[in-house]
Amino acid sequence: MLSAERENTFLVELGQRNDCTGDSSRYYGEIFKAVGVPEGKILDVGSHDARLARWFLENGIIRNVVSLDILNLSVKEEFVRANATRLPFRDNSFDSIVSLASVPSHCGLWVPKAAVVSELTRVAKSSVIIWPAPRFFRLPDNVAKRHVDAKGITSASPNQRSVLVLDKR
Ligand SMILES: C[S@@+](CC[C@H](N)C(=O)[O-])C[C@H]1O[C@@H](n2cnc3c(N)ncnc32)[C@H](O)[C@@H]1O
Repeated sequence: MLSAERENTFLVELGQRNDCTGDSSRYYGEIFKAVGVPEGKILDVGSHDARLARWFLENGIIRNVVSLDILNLSVKEEFVRANATRLPFRDNSFDSIVSLASVPSHCGLWVPKAAVVSELTRVAKSSVIIWPAPRFFRLPDNVAKRHVDAKGITSASPNQRSVLVLDKR
């Protein structure tokens, strides 16, 4: 069992090695067309440089977003540095959680998916949007899942057109 500090260092190193910084904001419009734009207080997990908060702003969508990433990024938006496997928030702290091209499906290949899914659903009051939908993960008992086809994402591979929405019961 790694200490929290060593685990953090380990993941940051892996993130950097995997060049985990690709920009997927070109797909955001199609993702939200498929599942709807989340409401209320939103947590963007694996935000990189507050990408979702900036995208909302650029598209004239007013939302309250907290951006979270494991990397130590300096942005002017509200930002928290943390590991998605251990979110520093109480249960039900955010109306919606969004995790795009990040954990647990993409860069999260090297983080325990069940731990991430359980953390995301723990801090969400109602729903969690994950894209692309991870293939294998364990779901907490109080959560229902739906896969939504984002048909407009034509430039990506077929499995990248599936958005996973987790709803707390
Ligand atoms: C490919 S980038 C995607 C950024 C942005 N969400 C997008 O849609 O373009 C993945 C981000 O997830 C972050 N990340 C990877 N593993 C993480 C973890 N365990 N906890 C928090 N952030 C993580 C990386 O540091 C990186 O900034």
